[in-house]
This record gives sequence, structure tokens and C-alpha cells, in this order.
Amino acid sequence: MDRVRFLLDGAVRTVGEFDPTLTVLEFLRETERRCGTKEGCAEGDCGACTVVLGEPVDGAVRYRAVNACILFLGALDGKELVTVESLGGPEAPHPVQQALVECHGSQCGFCTPGFVMSLYALWQADGRPVRSEIEQALAGNLCRCTGYRPIMDAAEQACGRPDRVDGRHATTAEQLQALLPTETLAIERDGRRFLAPIGLDALADLMLAHPQATLVAGGTDVGLWVTKQHRRLETVISLGRVAGLADVTETVDGIEIGAAVPYVDAMPILARWHPEIDGLLRRLGSVQIRNTGTIGGNIANGSPIGDSLPALIALEASLVLRRGAVERVLPLEDFFLKYRQTALMPGEFVARIRVPSARAGTLFRSYKISKRFDQDISAVCGGFAVTIADGRVADLRLAFGGMAGIPARARACEQALIGQPWTEASVAAALPALAQDFAPLSDMRASADYRARVARNLVRKFQIETDGGAPVGVLALAAS
Ligand code: FAD
Ligand code: FES
Ligand code: FES
Repeated sequence: MDRVRFLLDGAVRTVGEFDPTLTVLEFLRETERRCGTKEGCAEGDCGACTVVLGEPVDGAVRYRAVNACILFLGALDGKELVTVESLGGPEAPHPVQQALVECHGSQCGFCTPGFVMSLYALWQADGRPVRSEIEQALAGNLCRCTGYRPIMDAAEQACGRPDRVDGRHATTAEQLQALLPTETLAIERDGRRFLAPIGLDALADLMLAHPQATLVAGGTDVGLWVTKQHRRLETVISLGRVAGLADVTETVDGIEIGAAVPYVDAMPILARWHPEIDGLLRRLGSVQIRNTGTIGGNIANGSPIGDSLPALIALEASLVLRRGAVERVLPLEDFFLKYRQTALMPGEFVARIRVPSARAGTLFRSYKISKRFDQDISAVCGGFAVTIADGRVADLRLAFGGMAGIPARARACEQALIGQPWTEASVAAALPALAQDFAPLSDMRASADYRARVARNLVRKFQIETDGGAPVGVLALAAS
């Protein structure tokens, strides 16, 4: 297969020989001249470029909003692309557009198309959204000029309309079924390649053949290397079509999350096993980012401020890594070597993330401290788990992000608390040890002093909340 095939306005589009890192936004605006989709930030933040992707699921079509500015064109293969031009025009507006007009929710030409598309994805979802769901759906669409109330009113009005079922669904599902991939997609231009295998073995072979290739799962980190850092990627290998990485499996011991499973699909299952992580992941990026981004990408990116990492380290997660035919299992906390360096060998990839079930008697919490509630990278992130036996600390894992060059445990502080009663006094006595564990940096997100103080306060908060086995709850705080 040397061409990407996708549906646009009911017709199959076939495109070949494109730049492997051409974004959907560039394709729409520069090739298709569909200029309704806007470029605001080109880094997944503002939502002006929001388009909706349809995928076949159980005989129907599932629609999700994504950021076209950081999505490579190859990721469209086998999907339906819906842009603002695909909806109604002035004579016959779509219910979402009509509601925006009626509620005075239409705004400037930059943000409005993105709002329309996010609302269209919400309109396509089942059920009548409540206000908090509408807020979530719009958290990735920024307007710095006016207000959100009329847009939220429009969402309530449009999603309540009876003509919610799109008459094209059945045909679209059939068309998409016919586009399901059967072999590796290999696009080549000027010696640069976009490769998208469909099986794990094919992926493993390609990784051995191209050990310097850039793997792309959701592309919410990699996309910015291209749009913001102007990096030239020679070979891109996409995980988006690898069936063996697309599932979450549950056993009595816990869950295994395939490395290509987007947050939106992993979150409900993770939350069933560890309810306290849900609030954290709901603050990771926006709906658009969570619809494409993956936990595997968050881990393999090797950033010290990946939000999922402290919580997963506290939960004793491990990684199944694969190189060729060989798999090995590594505790997540051993994966990070130094700033942006991981234990991945050339040609090796993260296949699955194992998250064990909660241990009896263990209490877990995760906290994210950032300037904004949504769509913001954390200044400090904490994932903590304590096991109490006979009133004393039997085991303790205090994992932090944003405090060092890698996500790491506060070993000295943990040691100071092992064997002690789990009380405010013990924690107060142990907190100075955090200074042995970390010497945080000052940067645009927070000063070193702020980070150190927040880290101490989070451990105190954790103790207070879990003192006496307080009820499990979800906590995710904004610092502002
Ligand atoms: P990709 O971009 O596809 O890949 C990331 C890195 O991992 C690359 O180096 C890639 O080669 C490598 N990789 C991917 N999969 C594998 C694999 N299976 N094996 C080996 N290597 C692999 N992050 C946060 O933590 N918190 C936030 O709140 C947050 N907000 C964001 C908001 C915006 C607007 C944007 C653009 C990003 C945000 N991010 C945030 C960063 C990003 O969304 C996450 O890190 C996400 O989890 C990356 O997943 P991905 O699948 O998109 O990774
Ligand atoms: Fe801002 Fe894409 S242009 S999110
Ligand atoms: Fe469009 Fe504010 S960005 S009205």
C-alpha cells in the first residue's frame, strides 16, 4: 500500500507521495484549499484547527475531535475526516451551527470553526451532555476575547435536538469497513518515509530495519517537533494501525494497556482499577489531546513532567518492551535513566504497560499542580502509595514529576517514614529528607523554591487524606 485512503464528504480520497510529516492542517489548507480549518498555535493548544475523525466501531461510526495541526496525514488512513466545510452551509446549517447562531455563540473566524467541530463531536456522542461534560468538550478550544457561556448554551440546545442520528452513518460504516487496512502502508517521498504496519511482528521487523526511525503513537509530542522545532524526520513509523497494541486486557492481577491505546480509551478502564487516577488523567491536555495521545507516548517521551508517570510509578507499573522477537519486562521506575534518556535500545519499543491491581491495605493518591486546570503541563506532579500495617508504614512510594531531570521516587523521604506511625508528626519529621532527594530547577512554570514547598505540602496532604484510611477520592488541584 503506497497511498493513504480516507473518506471526505462521503467519497474515498486517495493520496500518495506526500511528505511523511505533512500535517492534516497543511493538507487541508494548502492542497485542498479548505481554509475553514484554522491555524492558531500549531501546537495543539488552541483548538482552532479542530477536525473530527470517524472510525468504524461495531458496525457504527465513532466520532472524535482531534487537532489537525499536529496530526500527520498518514494517520487518516482508513478513517473519515470531517471538517467544518463538511457540515451545513448558510442555507442549511447543521444543528450545531444553527444553535451557535441562535445563542449568539459565533465569534471570530479563528476560533469559531474549532468550536463548531468540538461541538459536532459532542453532538455525535450518545446522550445529552451536562454542563461539566460540555466544559470538558470545550477545554481544548481557546478564545481569549469573549465568553464561553453562549457557546455552552448552544451545546445544550444542539445536543438536545431530536435529529441527532446522522442518516449517513450506515453507509459511512460500510465504506470505512471497506477501507480497513490489510497490509503495511508505506509512503515515500524524496527518500523519506511514513510506514504504518498492521501487525506486531511487522512493526518489530521495521524497527530493526530502521532503528533510527521516529515512532509515532498519537503524535501529540512528535507533532510539535515538526511544527515548532522544524525537525526533519527521515523515517516515521506509525503505531496507529498496529492491532496488537490497540487493546487493554484485564486479568485478576491487573491490566495491560497496549502502547497505541489513546487516553480516552485507557482512562475508563484504569479508573475502574484505580479510581484515584481518573481526576489526574482528565486534566491531561484536552479532549483533542486525549483522543489521540497515549500513555505509551507519555512514557517513551522520557519527559520529567509527563503527568501519568508519578502515578504509574507509585502503582508499581512495569513495561513490556519488545525488540525483534524478544520481549523483556522493566519496572517503570527503572525506565528513565537521565534527562530525556530512557532504557529503550535501538530498534526496541514499548509494547504494553502493565498496571497491577491495588494491593490490600494500600492507599493511593495523585496530584497535579499547574497554573491552569485544563490543558496545562504540571509544575509538580505527585503519585503516592502507602501501605499501613499495625498502624505503621510498611511500604511507601512517593513518586514525583517536575522535581528532577526524570520522574523519580523520593527515596530518602520514604526511608525516613518506613516503620513510623502514619501521622502528621512523622511526616513533618521526614519532610526535610526531601531536600536530599531533589534539587528542583526554576523555569517558566515554577521556581525551585515553589516546587520544593509544593512537594512538601503534597506529602503532608497525602498523609492527612489517608490518615485512618480516609475514603478514597479523586484529587487534582490547580495551583492558582
Ligand atoms: P507521540 O507524540 O506519538 O510520541 C512521544 C514520544 O514517544 C516520541 O519520542 C515517540 O517516538 C515515542 N513513542 C511513542 N510510542 C512509543 C512506543 N510504543 N515505543 C517507543 N517509543 C514510543 N503531557 C502531559 O503529561 N500532561 C499534559 O497535561 C499534557 N498536555 C498537553 C497539551 C498539549 C496541547 C500537547 C500538544 C501535549 C500535551 N502533553 C501533555 C504531551 C503529550 O500529549 C503526552 O506526552 C502524550 O502522552 C504523548 O503521547 P503520544 O501518543 O501523542 O506520543
Ligand atoms: Fe492551535 Fe491546532 S492550531 S490547536
Ligand atoms: Fe475568536 Fe476570541 S479567539 S473570538
